[in-house]
Amino acid sequence: MSTAPIRSLSGLVDSLLVAADEALRALSGAATAARPSPGAGQGEPAVPEERALSGRLMRVNHTGEICAQALYSGQALVARSDSIRAALQGAASEERDHLAWCRDRLARLGAHASALDPLWYAGSFAWGVASGLAGDRWSLGFLSETEDQVERHLEGHLDRLPAHDRASRAVVLQMREDENRHGAMGRALGGRELPLPVKAAMRLAARAMTGTAYWV
Ligand SMILES: [Fe+2]
Ligand SMILES: [Fe+2]
Repeated sequence: MSTAPIRSLSGLVDSLLVAADEALRALSGAATAARPSPGAGQGEPAVPEERALSGRLMRVNHTGEICAQALYSGQALVARSDSIRAALQGAASEERDHLAWCRDRLARLGAHASALDPLWYAGSFAWGVASGLAGDRWSLGFLSETEDQVERHLEGHLDRLPAHDRASRAVVLQMREDENRHGAMGRALGGRELPLPVKAAMRLAARAMTGTAYWV
C-alpha cells in the first residue's frame, strides 16, 4: 500500500520530465534525425524570390512538425495502453526526422523558424493531452484526422514549392508518405471517426497556424 502510490508518483514525474525534455529539444532545434534528409544533395533554388517563397513554406512545415512533436508527446503522456504508447512513440521518432529535416531546409534557405513556435507547441501539447484523456480510441482518431489534414496540406505545398527547390520537394514528399502511414496506423489501432465540428475546429486551428507561420 505504501509503495504503489510512490511508484506511480515517480512514474508521473519521470513522464513529465520526458515531456519537458522533448519540448526543449523540439523548440531549441536540438532534435536530430535518425534518417538522412531526403533533400541532401538535391537542387537548391537560386533565384531570391524562389528562395524566399520556399523559406516561408518550409517555415510553415517546420511549425507543423513542432505541433506534431507536441501532440504526440501530450498523447503519449496520458495514453492508457502500453502498446499504443509505443506506437505513438514510434511515429513521434519519424516526426523528429521531419522536424530536423525542415530545420535543415530553413538553415539552407536562409530562413528562420516561427517566433510563435513555443505558443503552438503549448497549444498542441494541450490538445494532445485532452485527446489522450478522452481515451485511446479518441486519441487515435484525433491522430488519424490530424495526419490526414497534414497530408492534404503537404499536397498543396507540392503545388506551390518552386520546381527548382528539389531539396524541399524531396523532404515534403517523404513527409507526406510518412504522414499517410501514421494516419493508417491510427485507424488500424482502432481510432474513432471524429465528430464533424471537431474536424472543423482542427481545420480552423491549422489555418491560423499556417497563416501566421508563413509571415512570422
Ligand atoms: Fe510530420
Ligand atoms: Fe505524422
